[in-house]
Amino acid sequence: MQTSPVTDRTARRAPSAKRSRGRNPPQLSGDLPVIGHTLEFVRSTIELLFRAQRELGEVAGLRIANKNMVALFGPEAHEAVFRAPDSQLNPAEAYKIMTPVFGKNMVYDAPPERMDEQLKMLLPALKDRRMRTYAEIIVEEVESSIADWGDEGELDLVDYCRVLTNFTSAHCLLGREFRHDMTHEFAEVYHALERGITPLAYINAHLPLPSFRARDKARLKLVGMIGEIIEARRRSGRKGEDFLQTLIEARYQSGTALTDDEITGMLLASMFAGHHTSSVTTAWTLLELMRHPACRRTVIEQVDDLHESNGIVSFESLRDFTEGDWAVMEALRLHPPLFLLIRVVMREFEFHDYRFPVGTWLLLSPTVSQRIPEAFEDADCFDPQRFSADRIKTMHPFANIAFGGGAHKCLGNAFARLQIKAILATLLRRYEFSSTSDPIGSDFHGLVIGPSQPCRVRYRRRQLQATRRTPGLAKPRAAGSTHAADPEPSTVARAKPFRVVCDLDLCQSHAACMGEAPEVFRVGRVGKVSLIQECPSPELRARVEAAVKHCPTGTLRIEELPPRPEASSESADPGADGPTTRLEIETGRNHSPR
Ligand code: HEM
Ligand code: SF4
Repeated sequence: MQTSPVTDRTARRAPSAKRSRGRNPPQLSGDLPVIGHTLEFVRSTIELLFRAQRELGEVAGLRIANKNMVALFGPEAHEAVFRAPDSQLNPAEAYKIMTPVFGKNMVYDAPPERMDEQLKMLLPALKDRRMRTYAEIIVEEVESSIADWGDEGELDLVDYCRVLTNFTSAHCLLGREFRHDMTHEFAEVYHALERGITPLAYINAHLPLPSFRARDKARLKLVGMIGEIIEARRRSGRKGEDFLQTLIEARYQSGTALTDDEITGMLLASMFAGHHTSSVTTAWTLLELMRHPACRRTVIEQVDDLHESNGIVSFESLRDFTEGDWAVMEALRLHPPLFLLIRVVMREFEFHDYRFPVGTWLLLSPTVSQRIPEAFEDADCFDPQRFSADRIKTMHPFANIAFGGGAHKCLGNAFARLQIKAILATLLRRYEFSSTSDPIGSDFHGLVIGPSQPCRVRYRRRQLQATRRTPGLAKPRAAGSTHAADPEPSTVARAKPFRVVCDLDLCQSHAACMGEAPEVFRVGRVGKVSLIQECPSPELRARVEAAVKHCPTGTLRIEELPPRPEASSESADPGADGPTTRLEIETGRNHSPR
């Protein structure tokens, strides 16, 4: 494979590319005759995974429900798995357990090309242009949720975050109309659906269990409820700029429209992917901040600063809420909502000295891997600063996989972070919180792991006093400006020549880069990023840095260039007459190679 400075596909090539001697993975102890590790898997999947890592390290063979499985731990294993194409390691096979929720022929149950087309239909709601409208909506929802809180009180944080994020996600992604038709009954039925998905479904998603029966009943009810909303939209002839409208108007490449059942499946898929995950992360971030007063003070100082300098919480101001972002990322590292990510081997796969034949299930566990001391210093400590600009440089890019990685990295990760930050910025400005039921553990009942309940929290209205602005923080931007602040002239003069490098394997077409630096990046309606300039002029440095920072997939990086020999380092400006490159846009989320 060719390496170019622009498409840096081989920069961190997966270790699987090495010549393998083809050993079988070591088998975890406790492999009982006939049943293997099945009983332990059913009793406590997460304890089994922790034990596997403790006992065998990076690679551990398991036998569950007659399937050969291998648990892989640590950044190198993650990278190898996430960089493999779908034709070699396939997520759909394992995630068919979602078929009772999403419906037949939907997402993981659909053929690969159709699944890609369906996932792509989610993108318009998660792309940069729409993302810029969400912060205000989220703040409106949070304000309304606390309108009757009074000066102090107590609540269950898990329940509160569940209801709140139901409304914020529905309002942003599905639209105002959908949100207002969304009754508390809807939220309850939806919750029953979520509770019906447990690791047992990996063994058989149709076992005659009460939770599975409740799941199927809840889905039927939701199909009816969503069907009424779709029908009302069709009758009224009103067109909204929301996800429901996007789906009503969406066409497969063949030109066919989605059926009502498919629209329902897509709505459920987007809610399912994004709702519970965001809700438990909001709860964990608040809980961790309650437990760590110093971190809490830093976050609250920045919240106050953000309010005092900008007045409102907006898309732009939230970008400066770095302390909030690091707290969310650290909460996700310690408490990733998805504790098990799975791929099935479709073509023999190798990692280090090991060989995994077709049919093997590969298990990655963010929960276990993100506590490995070799990957994270003081791995069990809540330390948001590890995500700060300086320290994150030493973190392997595939160490933290709370949002997955590679071509299937979470499509909603930028939305989730924005949403949680907007909630934190609004709640922490108004109230202070303390936990009344700590220590709170994790509830590993379902597939999405959150704090266990009861999770009682006390809140008290804050006495606000003016605070001093932290220097350099939350600078107000010119009205209508969405770009990073342009650098001071003196900074430009000192700026070194640089080049932009894209790892196109990772690009998911969010277009945040184009929002930051349209002079440098171009993203079409379909396809990945292309570079208008490979070596932009130093005046564009701040914008390119913002694009690198806000790209949700880590596709972009800046490479410093030596000063041109004929120019002094003070005035080097390769962008003025230096090389410029235009890349052909690649088409979409291909299957092979990803
Ligand atoms: C804190 C919140 C969230 C977490 C921790 C999270 C986590 C993840 C993870 C780990 C994956 C990868 C699964 C795998 O590789 O097997 C994933 C995929 C995905 N997520 Fe999220 N997610 C979150 C929020 C959201 C939101 C808000 C949305 C959309 C509204 C969303 C939509 C998706 C989609 C569509 C995929 C599948 C991508 C693909 O297969 O190509 N997620 N998420
Ligand atoms: S480079 Fe990043 S921000 Fe730009 S389109 Fe690709 S994923 Fe999106």
